[in-house]
Amino acid sequence: MVQAEKANRFITFDGIEGCGKTTQLRLAEAWLRARGLPVLATAEPGGAALGLKIREILLNRNSFRIGPEAELLLFSAARAQHVAETILPALQSGSWVLCDRFTDATVAYQGFGRGIDLQIIQTINAFSSQGLKPALTVLFDLPVETGLARARKRASNGHPEKAEDRFEQEDIHFHNLVRNGYLRLAKESPGRFRIVDAVGPPDEIEHEVRQILETFIFRKGESQ
Ligand SMILES: Nc1ncnc2c1ncn2[C@@H]1O[C@H](COP(=O)(O)OP(=O)(O)OP(=O)(O)O)[C@@H](O)[C@H]1O
Ligand SMILES: [Mg+2]
Repeated sequence: MVQAEKANRFITFDGIEGCGKTTQLRLAEAWLRARGLPVLATAEPGGAALGLKIREILLNRNSFRIGPEAELLLFSAARAQHVAETILPALQSGSWVLCDRFTDATVAYQGFGRGIDLQIIQTINAFSSQGLKPALTVLFDLPVETGLARARKRASNGHPEKAEDRFEQEDIHFHNLVRNGYLRLAKESPGRFRIVDAVGPPDEIEHEVRQILETFIFRKGESQ
């Protein structure tokens, strides 16, 4: 198992569709690199060869059914490999790891969204992640209509299909369950979560994310 001190370098960006996770993660990666830190940026589902195969399966919208239980296990199988093959070795080598979605997404989507028992999800999450928890989670929050509109605009701009597109097909009610699930998680773990209002322009949000990372990474010692 990775040492506790190194696991403190595990940071996740999470939130509903189109909230800006990937945009902000790339900006944060570049900024931290420019500050001279070793950084690995990675994303779920994916990040390892098996994850990419599973992502293809999850993409498959119409030709076969994927029930909630199978969906949970497919995401979890992808995570298990991602953690073992990519995230833990990077942490072990002393890198900061920025991960686009992690276990909170499973709680929000499969738990609050699909209605799978939260205790079961917690057990499966602990197993698939080998007990690894983010030290910091930046939650990008915005109305689901805004996030979905951004995601649709992106799709119409010719970007490739993504696994999450299965979720984009869900109704507004589902996405509100997911959004409220994330907010509930943040409320339950205020020490780990930072909520960012994701409605404004990208550079404003980038500024806020930098401040959060600045405090978390560079000024940690000062506040203790
Ligand atoms: N603050 C912003 N204001 C307006 N548009 C934005 C903003 N941030 C990102 N976008 C655009 O909205 C779309 C969705 O952003 P992005 O892909 O970063 O979101 P995401 O949270 O990673 O979405 P998904 O959950 O679907 O992966 C992109 O086309 C992106 O360029
Ligand atoms: Mg994304």
